[in-house]
Formats: sequence, C-alpha cells, structure tokens
Amino acid sequence: MADITTDVLIIGTGPAGSATAALLSTYGVENMVINRYRWLASTPRAHITNQRTMEVLRDLGRNVEDEAYMFAAEQDLMGENVFCTSLTGEEIGRMKSWGKHPLSRAEHQLSSPSHMNDLPQTFMEPLLFKTACSRGTQARMSTEYLSHVQDADGVTTTCRDRLTNKDITIRSKFLVGADGGNSKVAEHAGLTYEGKMGVGGSMNILFEADLSRHVAHRPSVLYWVLQPGADVGGIGMGLVRMVRPWNEWLIVWGYDINQPAPEVSDDFAIKVVRDLVGDQELKPKIKSVSTWTVNNMYATKTASGRVFCAGDAIHRHPPSNGLGSNTSIQDAFNLAWKLAAVIKGQAGLGLLDSYDTERAPIAKQIVTRANKSIEEFGPIFKALGLLDSVDPVKMQQNMDARCDDTDAAEQQRAAIRKAIASKVYEFDAHGVEMNQRYRSSAIVTDGQPEPAFEKDAELHFQPTTWPGARLPHAWLFGQNGEKVSTLDLTGHGVFTVLTGVGGDGWVEAAKSLGKAFGMTIAVHKIGPRQEWQDLVGDWANMREIRDSGVLLVRPDHHVAWRAEGMVADPQAELRRVLNSILNK
Ligand code: FDA
Repeated sequence: MADITTDVLIIGTGPAGSATAALLSTYGVENMVINRYRWLASTPRAHITNQRTMEVLRDLGRNVEDEAYMFAAEQDLMGENVFCTSLTGEEIGRMKSWGKHPLSRAEHQLSSPSHMNDLPQTFMEPLLFKTACSRGTQARMSTEYLSHVQDADGVTTTCRDRLTNKDITIRSKFLVGADGGNSKVAEHAGLTYEGKMGVGGSMNILFEADLSRHVAHRPSVLYWVLQPGADVGGIGMGLVRMVRPWNEWLIVWGYDINQPAPEVSDDFAIKVVRDLVGDQELKPKIKSVSTWTVNNMYATKTASGRVFCAGDAIHRHPPSNGLGSNTSIQDAFNLAWKLAAVIKGQAGLGLLDSYDTERAPIAKQIVTRANKSIEEFGPIFKALGLLDSVDPVKMQQNMDARCDDTDAAEQQRAAIRKAIASKVYEFDAHGVEMNQRYRSSAIVTDGQPEPAFEKDAELHFQPTTWPGARLPHAWLFGQNGEKVSTLDLTGHGVFTVLTGVGGDGWVEAAKSLGKAFGMTIAVHKIGPRQEWQDLVGDWANMREIRDSGVLLVRPDHHVAWRAEGMVADPQAELRRVLNSILNK
C-alpha cells in the first residue's frame, strides 16, 4: 500500500514539470509534482520565450499570458544582436534578431496572437508553478525521486523526504519524468538516446551592474564578445546576456572540456566581467557562478509504458536558439491533454503512443539545430582571421586588416557581413520555433500530400491546415466587436470543430458525438452573420477548406483532421476520425 496516491506524478518543477502540472490541473486531472530542492530555479537560465510557448500560456488563461508579459523584457528590447570586442570596445557587426527586423516582425505578427519576449526562468517557473498549485496540483518540495516500478495499472515511485530523511511511496496511474538533463526517471525507464553529453564546457557568471550607457542605444538580449579564447568550449563566443535591462547580466564564457571544470572564484569572475565589458574600473556585484556542459543528445524513445519523459530529460543541447525551456513547455502541451483524455476514460491507452511518435523527432530536430548554431560561429572567426593564430597581437592585426583600403580587405569585410548574416539560423529562426508538424496515430490524413515549404523551413513559418500542423492564426470578429484568434477558439483541453456557412451537419455531428464520447467538443461557425466573422478574409485565405468543410482541432491546437466540404454522413465520418485518434 503506497503512502500517497495521485493520478499523475510529475518529477521536477522546471518548465517541463510545472507546465505539465499547470495544464493537468486546468484540465481537471489530479496530479502531484515534486522537486528535490525547496524552491524553483535560482538562476535565470532560460529567457528567450517564443510565440508558440506564449500560445501555451495564453491557452492556460489570458491572465497567465498577461502576467508573463508584465515580468518580461518586451520584444523591442531584444533584437539588436551585437558582435563586438567588448561592450566599450569596437563594434564589428550587428544583426536584427528575434523578430526585430521589420520583415520578420511582420511574419511574427501574422503568425500568432502572442508575442516573443524575454522572460527569465526565475519568472517563468514561479508563474507556471503558481498556476498549477492554485488550480489543484499538490506540490511536495524537498522531495527527491529515487526509483520507480511500473505494472499494468500504474507506477509506484519511491521518493525521499529530505526534511525527515524518510522514504515515501507514491502510487500513480502515470509518471512524468521532467527531471532535467540528468534524468534518473529516463535512465530507470530505459529510454534510449543518440549523441553525446559534455561536448563543451561553459560557465555562467550572474552579476549586477548598470551598463545602460554601453547598451541602451542598441538594445539586445545578447552581446557577443570576440576576445582571444572566446571560441574555447562553451557556446561559440563570449556572451554578455541581459537578464534585466540594463542592470542585471549573465556572462557565459567557455572552458576547455578536456580539463576539469574550473573553480570559478569571485576574483576570476570579476576579471571576466571587466574584460568582456571592457571597463577595468567596473565594480560588478557577483550574484552567483556555476559551470555547465554543452550537450548534444536526444532521446530516440521518450516514453516507456506508463512513464513519459519531457523537457531536458529527452533533449539535451546548448542554449543556442533559446529552444530548451520553450520545447519543454511544448512537450507538456502535447502530453497533458493525452493523459487527461485517457484518465477521464475518453481515450484508449494507445493515444499515449503518439507522444513519442510526435515529440521524439522534435527532440532530434532542436538538439541538432542548437548544436549546428554553435558551429556556425566558425565563419565569423574565420572571416576575422582569428583562426590563423593564437597570438593575441597577431589576432588583433588580422581583425584590423579589414579596415584597409585593399581588395583583400574589401573581400574580408564582405566575408564578415556574410558570416554574421548567416547567424539568422540561430537568432531569427521563426520556422524552427513554429513549423512543427506531427505525423502519428493521433492525426488522421485527409489524403492530401503535405504542402512543401515555399521558403526556408527553418527561417519562415508557413501556415497550413494540413492535418498534423498547428492551426493557423487569424483574427476573427464577434457580432459585438470582440476580436479573437482562431487559436483562442480552440485548445483549453478540448477538441474543437471549426466550420462555416453550410457546415451545420458538422455542428450537429460534433454535438451528438461529444455526448457519445463523454467529452466536450467545442464548435464554432465562421462566416457572415455567424458567431464569428472573417471580416478581413484572412481565415478564408489560409483555411484550405470550403465554407461547408471542417477542421477538427486537438486540444494542443494541432489540426487532427479536415474535410474539404460537406459529406453525405458527417456524423459517421467524424465518428470514424475520433475513434481512430482516441484509440477507441
Ligand atoms: P530543469 O532542469 O529546468 O528542471 C528539472 C527539475 O527536476 C528541477 O526542478 C529539479 O530540481 C528537478 N529534479 C531533478 N532531479 C530530481 C530528483 N531526483 N528528484 C526530484 N526532483 C528532481 N531555454 C530556452 O527555451 N530559452 C533560452 O533562452 C534558454 N537559455 C538558456 C541559457 C543558459 C545559460 C542555459 C544553461 C540554459 C538555457 N535554456 C534556455 C535551457 C533551459 O534552461 C532548459 O532547457 C530548461 O530548464 C529545461 O527544463 P526542464 O523542466 O526540462 O528541466
């Protein structure tokens, strides 16, 4: 007999665990989350928060999304990505990043009702955790996961209460391992991985200093500093990262992974800060220092039976592209509604298989992209002539050569511009953030081929209602002037049917099937004199079905299935699709 029972036990209160808990509680599923420490993240590791993550927060409630914006540095403060020799030194180049370029900003605005922003993990975690606990999650801090055993009906997990030093057992229907990059849950569940841990070494130096005069005229979250040694280990270059504009900062500096991790003294930390800022008189207040390794590893199997892993537990990679916490929260969005549907008896266990089918390829994609982004600093070093010598004097001469009035110098200048511009794949890769398309048993094809990407799929988001893709965003208008996104009409833990004039057959089918399946199926009709009007015509341009057609949208905003127009027996067709998706 276990000491405690719950439906879902979640190990870890990081972005993956807290988001899973918040979503499950919102869906009315009993859950418990544990953390071996007494509180949440103590350092602001993750910060770049992309639109897809903000859509998850919006789905949790407009109050949750609004609170995130309240604590975040807004998008306008994020994007003058600077490459320099120090903050006071020479600026070598700049690139507009994170939707700062007007063309990119337009794409952002057209793609989503939500905005990218910079929200340090020290704000994101409490927001998700508070949302979870206030909606029903039981949280046990200072409780360490030790082991688990699963059987046909559930999982028995042994944990240590670190306050009493006593072991407790928790029985749950499902176990979620959101216990980070050294996941014990994943190890004990026998998950399989490809890649390598520890391919580079980095140190974080968190400090306070008012640097407004060096940065406020070129607002950015990231200031990349080229100094001798900047290419050793780490994330590609020396980095001065804004935590709070413009008086709290995190420096990331590499170390040689073939050597033991250095003991970072305050004196050493102050030296690195002064060197990268370029002010030997600066008196920074060092708040903390830590070391971490650059990893290049992803799970090829993300779940085993009743145990599911999410977040860094299944994708371990450097912070390049700012994908870690974002992808962790998006894993949770994929998993939580499936667990809820199975626990509520609306779906068979087989629905849960689609978590691995859908998220394992994403894990591979983002780990590969984040590591490639480190390699892509190479051309900048090469163009500046920093790879030809380790002698700082010679390196400086090579950099200085770009200012000469010679053909060689002109070519060097062009090479530098090209190398910096190519970093768009790290700093403005909107497609990587938004183009996730699923293929699995939780998607039913309409027989149409997947639309090819017309532009670079890593850089540009391409909306489509092809089953498996995220529902495109378009603004719609109510009869009283209200304005909603198509994404606002969907999600919230339920399936949604979107149709238009001539789609009454789908409306009736959804109502009666909702009763038959014991679940709510939300229904919205879009068109003139309907509940929602497509006054601008954006929806008609992107929905890829006729007025009488239908989109069936999953609780995580992904299109589950679509029909181009009305069919002879809409109820039979929708029943077939739901049976297939829900594994009934
Ligand atoms: P995370 O590691 O955050 O949480 C794990 C949780 O499990 C913790 O609560 C821990 O205490 C708990 N735990 C572990 N073992 C346990 C046990 N045995 N028992 C009980 N509890 C246990 N990402 C991003 O999206 N945008 C960005 O801009 C950045 N930037 C960035 C910069 C830097 C410098 C770093 C180092 C990292 C980033 N990241 C990022 C990455 C991001 O921080 C990371 O991907 C997420 O924290 C992962 O979230 P998880 O919830 O998976 O694990």
